[in-house]
Amino acid sequence: MQILVTGGAGFIGGNFVHLTVKERPEARIVVLDAMTYAGNERSLDGLGEHVELVRGDIADAALVDRLVAASDLVVHFAAESHNDNSLAEPWPFVQTNIVGTYTLLEAARKHDVRYHHISTDEVYGDLELDDPERFTEATAYNPSSPYSSTKAGSDMLVRAWVRSFGVRATISNCSNNYGPRQHIEKFIPRQITNLIDGVRPKLYGDGLNVRDWIHVDDHNSAVWAIIERGRIGETYLIGADGELDNKTVVQAILTGMGRDADDFDHVTDRPGHDRRYAIDSTKLRQELGWSPRYTSFDDGLAATIAWYRENESWWRPFKDATEAKYASQQVVAA
Ligand code: NAD
Ligand code: DAU
Repeated sequence: MQILVTGGAGFIGGNFVHLTVKERPEARIVVLDAMTYAGNERSLDGLGEHVELVRGDIADAALVDRLVAASDLVVHFAAESHNDNSLAEPWPFVQTNIVGTYTLLEAARKHDVRYHHISTDEVYGDLELDDPERFTEATAYNPSSPYSSTKAGSDMLVRAWVRSFGVRATISNCSNNYGPRQHIEKFIPRQITNLIDGVRPKLYGDGLNVRDWIHVDDHNSAVWAIIERGRIGETYLIGADGELDNKTVVQAILTGMGRDADDFDHVTDRPGHDRRYAIDSTKLRQELGWSPRYTSFDDGLAATIAWYRENESWWRPFKDATEAKYASQQVVAA
């Protein structure tokens, strides 16, 4: 089986490739990745002859057509993925997330190749902190940021290509991932690497925004369940009942790294900052028999902290530029 993994040099795609090589050694994997600031070739270290990295853009129709034609399955992770960047400069999000997805869908349609689309719970907007409801597959789309609106647009393209052209596609919308090889612009690795550098963690606004954390390997095991057993045309929500507010997460990182739990700063809030995400993954669990392996956030976080401590050479080259970008956007509250 030949699998085309877009965005395989990024966080979730890279971990998907590692998991696939480990559990399905017969698969041949071609990674298509533009190697933007978020791609890291080192994320594919140690995978040997199982994996080929093709540097290229998912919006390059000729390249995509050739790679999809040679594949049995496309798993589409590539995206501009960071909300803060989308607020500073939205255009790359429109180009990659919408035009790039369109380009892949056209190739999947032409060559009748099975396609799985990776998306986010952010397409549903946000919930109040005290709302008893969680997102389900029936929740109406209501995205807030340029990032989430372009992901919502890409999901809509997939649905239309299934219905109008019979493309054999499935969609998954997952909550916040954590784990190894996540870019240090993101919340958890940013704070871990700040602490390694002796810098106080930075909490946006009041720090009470809630995210629904899932370990990246649980996300990817769910993706495989959907690829193998999911119904064509269906959407599956992926989540592991991991709701935590940001302040609790920062304090867990601080204590997990031997620091005082109150040793953090509040900084300028993110414009339009979604208050809370929460996933109801009943459909995935009941229909496909999936369940998460990482049931303790504290254990998963401890392993993640250890990974960043042991793999400084993976993230160090990006640290100064990442923090310089944040310094121009955020001010520490008095
Ligand atoms: P990431 O930013 O770590 O990686 C994205 C990868 O895509 C990078 O390797 C980058 O070089 C590549 N890329 C970007 N533009 C490209 C283009 N035009 N052509 C080819 N490659 C390109 O992102 P991530 O956090 O791993 O997210 C992967 C997917 O999962 C995205 O679709 C995202 O929307 C979705 N998702 C992420 C999370 C999360 O918590 N990180 C949760 C749910 C869904
Ligand atoms: O819900 C899934 C989404 O999760 C994915 O679709 C996105 O690709 C992924 O980036 C993530 O989006 P968030 O915006 O939730 O993740 P981020 O890591 O940027 O921030 C998590 C929370 O932490 C959010 O409430 C903002 C806050 N935050 C973030 C940073 C970087 C801080 O308080 N301080 C920070 O320094």
